[in-house]
Amino acid sequence: MGLPKKLRNTCPVTKIFESLAQIMERMTGVLIAPEKYYLFEHRLLGVLQQFQLPDLASLLQQIEIQRNPLLIESIIEMMTTHETRFFRDEAIFHALTNQIIPEWQKRTKGQSELWIWSAGCATGQEPYSVAMAIAQLHPQLTSRTQIVATDIAVKSLEKAKMGFYTHFELSRGLPENLQREYFTPNAGGATIRHDRLPKITFLHHNLVHDSPPGRFDIILCRNVSYYFSPDARKKLFCRLESAAKYGTALIVGAAESPVEYIQDYRIWEYQMVRYYELKTKTKPHHEDRENSGGA
Ligand SMILES: C[S@@+](CC[C@H](N)C(=O)[O-])C[C@H]1O[C@@H](n2cnc3c(N)ncnc32)[C@H](O)[C@@H]1O
Repeated sequence: MGLPKKLRNTCPVTKIFESLAQIMERMTGVLIAPEKYYLFEHRLLGVLQQFQLPDLASLLQQIEIQRNPLLIESIIEMMTTHETRFFRDEAIFHALTNQIIPEWQKRTKGQSELWIWSAGCATGQEPYSVAMAIAQLHPQLTSRTQIVATDIAVKSLEKAKMGFYTHFELSRGLPENLQREYFTPNAGGATIRHDRLPKITFLHHNLVHDSPPGRFDIILCRNVSYYFSPDARKKLFCRLESAAKYGTALIVGAAESPVEYIQDYRIWEYQMVRYYELKTKTKPHHEDRENSGGA
């Protein structure tokens, strides 16, 4: 099958795809292997139209020479995968409320604020699910919990901040009783009620290049490293480790594992869920509590 006209130019097509893949990896850590090069065809046609560029060679030039920030933002948005849903891999949320938070309470004797990082939060369903789970099952922690939710994709993050979801998005994982309690109905969907939930701060953040936005008791970084190159995974987990306090729980996606990349950890299980306790030997917890606080 031939390429659409807009994608053709004098430079061999694979060379263009290779350059785009290298740029994507450098900027985001996301690996686009040759068998996935078709994604450039599918996803960048709209970007060419939006920026009135005749072909991919001009697009490459705009990125490499002009460094057009809005164009780069759009490419990152289009080439990263934002699939998510409410209470994705539900068992994680049982582990969170029945084991991870009670363990944290035991360690801190209920004195500290609970700091949670949703790293790679996409359109926000993950941090809102965490917030609802806490409000439901640990209501006394609602005012003492700070959730920091970050992503590299600007548009996804804007949607997350707005907290408006269509009926279809709400139907993906959100139980009706939680929708009634934590959402206000609007035309076409419903908007989250921040006043009933722990505070969530949304930040633009690159997991490969930026320092962590604080130190956290619980870190969720789910379905992010799956798309990364091995080198980017190494950088990612090194950054996540540096965001840990003593005893921090790291939760990754079902198809991901940090064990090749992190130094000091212990594996915990809750029913079928596996997560990782970071920095078990390095620092006594009270030292961290003295400097407590996330962002
Ligand atoms: C598949 S979604 C995962 C969403 C959510 N964690 C979940 O499991 O449902 C992956 C997210 O990671 C983000 N991402 C990819 N590379 C990133 C990077 N270098 N820094 C921060 N976020 C990144 C993408 O923009 C995307 O929103």
